[in-house]
Amino acid sequence: MSHELYELKVQNINRETDDCVSVEFAIPDSLQAIFQYTQGQYISLETEIQGQLLRRSYSLCSAPYEKKWCIAVKEVHNGAFSCYINQQLKIGDSILVQAPGGRFFTKLHPDQEKNYVFFAAGSGITPVIGIIKQILFEEPKSSVLLFYGNQRTEQVIFLEELLSLKNRYINRLALHFLLSREETEEELFHGRINAEKLNRFAERIFKVEEVDEFFMCGPETMILELREGLQQMGVDPHRIHMELFGVQIQKPKPHFDHTAESENCLVRMTLDGRTFEFNLAYNSDNLLDAALKQGANLPYACKGGVCCTCKTKLVKGDVEMMVNYGLEADEIENGYILSCQSFPKSAKIEVNFDQ
Ligand SMILES: Cc1cc2nc3c(=O)[nH]c(=O)nc-3n(C[C@H](O)[C@H](O)[C@H](O)COP(=O)(O)OP(=O)(O)OC[C@H]3O[C@@H](n4cnc5c(N)ncnc54)[C@H](O)[C@@H]3O)c2cc1C
Ligand code: FES
Repeated sequence: MSHELYELKVQNINRETDDCVSVEFAIPDSLQAIFQYTQGQYISLETEIQGQLLRRSYSLCSAPYEKKWCIAVKEVHNGAFSCYINQQLKIGDSILVQAPGGRFFTKLHPDQEKNYVFFAAGSGITPVIGIIKQILFEEPKSSVLLFYGNQRTEQVIFLEELLSLKNRYINRLALHFLLSREETEEELFHGRINAEKLNRFAERIFKVEEVDEFFMCGPETMILELREGLQQMGVDPHRIHMELFGVQIQKPKPHFDHTAESENCLVRMTLDGRTFEFNLAYNSDNLLDAALKQGANLPYACKGGVCCTCKTKLVKGDVEMMVNYGLEADEIENGYILSCQSFPKSAKIEVNFDQ
């Protein structure tokens, strides 16, 4: 994935709900190859807002076969970027965008006959609808079941598009909307998507052993609960795909003994062929945050140990990785770490983002 930023023009903006707009970008011929994507991937946008240069990631809600590049942004209360997109961005504006990235997808093939189950909450529907559209288009023998949670009906993003997909693929797509602040006909669909609901869905709506792959995107609490619930039901972690939009749960600061005499570790970092060094106090910032404070242009998205965008190779030294929901066992064996979750433990460490 290239870390370069490209100027893209806003081709269209649609108001999806009171607090969500979708934005379509025009991709000039010269950038078509760089901006090719797999369903479920995200792009990162950068712009200056009130004198501050900000960068945020947004999942593509379009599907590759549509030959469109669309995102949907839900306004977060007092959120700098999401308010800017919802309230100020106009058709014809240009904005800096990084090429698509992320690993929230599975390989599709027209011969496959699979059962997919999706759980989404709020704006978590964005990558999910892109993946669902591509599956329905590309795998004519596969079927899809979606559980989508919101507070109220008027907040359901892409309601019309989902219903029209249901009409088109009536035997292959099943939709279940959950509402937490509105009455529903059936009690099962009232409330949030959580471990208890998962157990009841698995008793009544799908058979866990018949599902090939699970996808989930929403708040951290939801995806971690569902992941644990599925694992307790015996689902292989390779069949569980998660996307996290950001970390809401406050994590305790790490505290562990280090082997060095000094209070700082000397960090040596290589990115895009450039190597730089800085001191990092033990039990303070993780490697990613520390390097960003130094002005380094490191890649990252979720900062929660899920997306692996911040993956780097530990070439020398020792770190403590607090959580890892994304790296595979062979990647860890080969020395890869998540920089957003790693804290130095030895006197010197060396990491390389280019390997
Ligand atoms: C891989 C990835 C894909 C993403 N895709 C989408 C997408 O498709 N659509 C979308 O709308 N967003 C998406 N996000 C989230 C997005 O990147 C921003 O984090 C979000 O728009 C808030 O940014 P902001 O600048 O408006 O808020 P900030 O100014 O960064 O935050 C303002 C306040 O809101 C809180 N806050 C931030 N985000 C949330 C949240 N999601 N829920 C509740 N409180 C929050 C913060 O803790 C802070 O107190 C994605 C994030 C990642 C990592
Ligand atoms: S930024 Fe997502 S895993 Fe580190």
